[in-house]
Amino acid sequence: MISSYKILVALVACAVGAPAVAASYNATIAIHADRAGAEINPDIYGQFVEHLGRGVYEGIWVGPDSPIPNTRGIRKDVVAALRKIKIPLVRWPGGCFAETYHWRDAIGPRESRARGVNTAWGDEVESNHFGTHEFMDFVEQIGAKPFISVNVASGSPAEAQAWMQYMTGPATSGPGQERAKNGRTEPWKVPFIGIGNETWGCGGNMTAEFYSDVYRQYVSVLKPYGTLIASDANSDDYEWTEKLLTRALYRHPPDTPTSLAYISKQPQISMVSVHFYTFAGNDWGKKSPAIGFGESDWARAMERTWKTDEMIQRHSDILDRHDPAGKVGISFSEWGAWWATDPKRPSNLYQAQTLRDAIIAGLTLNIFQNHAARVRMANLAQMVNVLQALILTDKEKIQLTPTYHVFDLYQSHQGALSLPVELDAPDYAHEGVAIPALSVSASRRPNGQVTVSLVNLDPTREARVAMSLEGLKIRKAAGRVITADAMDARAGFGESDPLAPVPLDRITTRSGAVSLTAPAKSVVVLDLE
Ligand code: AHR
Repeated sequence: MISSYKILVALVACAVGAPAVAASYNATIAIHADRAGAEINPDIYGQFVEHLGRGVYEGIWVGPDSPIPNTRGIRKDVVAALRKIKIPLVRWPGGCFAETYHWRDAIGPRESRARGVNTAWGDEVESNHFGTHEFMDFVEQIGAKPFISVNVASGSPAEAQAWMQYMTGPATSGPGQERAKNGRTEPWKVPFIGIGNETWGCGGNMTAEFYSDVYRQYVSVLKPYGTLIASDANSDDYEWTEKLLTRALYRHPPDTPTSLAYISKQPQISMVSVHFYTFAGNDWGKKSPAIGFGESDWARAMERTWKTDEMIQRHSDILDRHDPAGKVGISFSEWGAWWATDPKRPSNLYQAQTLRDAIIAGLTLNIFQNHAARVRMANLAQMVNVLQALILTDKEKIQLTPTYHVFDLYQSHQGALSLPVELDAPDYAHEGVAIPALSVSASRRPNGQVTVSLVNLDPTREARVAMSLEGLKIRKAAGRVITADAMDARAGFGESDPLAPVPLDRITTRSGAVSLTAPAKSVVVLDLE
C-alpha cells in the first residue's frame, strides 16, 4: 500500500520537474484574402529626426575626421542598418527645433558656419555642421525620401520659398548656382513639405483659425515644390482638424462664388498631420521609467497606445465629411513611447528600450495598417538615440532596438494591400484598464503571399489562435516572434539580444486553417503562401 506521504512527495517532484503550464486565452481570426483594400503605403514606416540630444550629432553625423567609420561624415553602421529595413523617408529638421531653424546658417563651408543655440532643446550649442547638404546626402545614402518641415513660427513664406528654390532649382538658376558652389550641382527632389510643426504650441502658439490662414499663405508660394502637409492637431484635438479643413482645404471655400471653379475643387492640403505619444497613462508630466516598471505602467501604456485607433478613426470621420473622395491623407508625423528622461540632461530624450517598446511599435503599426486608406505616412519619433529610437549608439558602438526588430519583421507589409480581418479575442484587464489583448493586421502582396502580424499585449497569458483565410489555400506557413520573460527585457551594448526575432514553432496548417500560439507579450509575424 502506498502511503499518502509518498503520493505527496511524488506530486511535488512532478510539479518541480514539469514545465509550467502557461495561462492562456483563445482567439479566432478570419482573414479575407480575397477582399484586398487600400495599399499599405511604405511611407508609414517613415522616420523623424530632430536636432536634439544625440539624435543627429553622434547618432548620424560624426564628421569626416572621426575614427568612427563614415562616408562624408555620416556613420556607415547606421546607414547600413537603416538600408536593411528599407526606411522610406525621413522628416527633418524638427519638431520644435524646426520652428527656430534658419537654413542659411547651415550651408557653405562647415568651418565658417556660425554656431547657434538650440533654444528648443536645452539651449545646447548647435554647430550647424549638419545642414541641408549633409541631410540630403544622408537620405540619399539610406535610399529614402526627404520630408522637410519649414519654419512657420520664426520664419516666413519667403524664407521657405528660398530654401525650396535652393534645393530644387536648376543648376543654371541663381539659387542652383549657389547650391553648386556649395558642392551639389544636380537639383534635389523634395517630395514632402510640412508647413509648420505643432503650430498650436512651439510652432507659433496659434489658434486653428489663424494657422489655417497662415497655411493658405504658405501654400501660395510652396505649391510648385512638393506634397504639402498641414501642421498637426494636438492628438485628439478634433476641433483643430475640423476648423483647418473648413478654412484651408480649398483655395476658395466651396460656397464662395468664383469663376475659378476647377481650382476651387482641388484640395490644397495633401495630408493633415497628427502627433501622439505613448506615456503610461494620459499625463504628460508623469512619465513611466523606461526600465524597472510594473504591470500597472505596462497596462496604462498599452491602453494609451490603443487610443491611436480611436484618434485616427475620429480624424478620418472629419476628413470623410470634407473630402468624401478620399484625396487627403493623414500623416501621423510623430508617434512613439516617451519615458522619463535623464534628470542630468533632460532635453536629451535618450531612453533605454525594452520588450514594452516592441509591443507598442507592433500595435501602432497594426493600427496604421488597418487604417491604410487614410493613413499614408507616419514618422517614428525619433530615429536614432531619441525617444523610441530604431538605433542607439554609444561612441563607436551601435545597438538595434526592439523597435528596429519590429520594423524589420514588418517589412513585407510595405506596399502590400491591406486585408480585412475579423477578430474574436478577450480583453486584457488590469487595475481598471480593459483593452483588446490581441491586435492583428494582414496584407497581400501581388505574388499572393499574405503577411499577418499579431501583437499579444497580455503580459501573462499566451494566445491560442485559430486562423482561417478566405480566398487563399495555405500550403506553407512560417513565423517569427519577438518575446521574453520579463516585461522590461532588453540588451545592453555588445550583449546578446534577448529580443532578436526567432522562428515561431508550433504553427500548424490544416485544410486551409492555421493554428499557432502567440506567447504572452509578443509580436508575431507570419508569412503564408
Ligand atoms: O519629438 C520631440 C518633440 O515632441 C518635438 O520636437 C515636438 O514636435 C513634440 O512635441
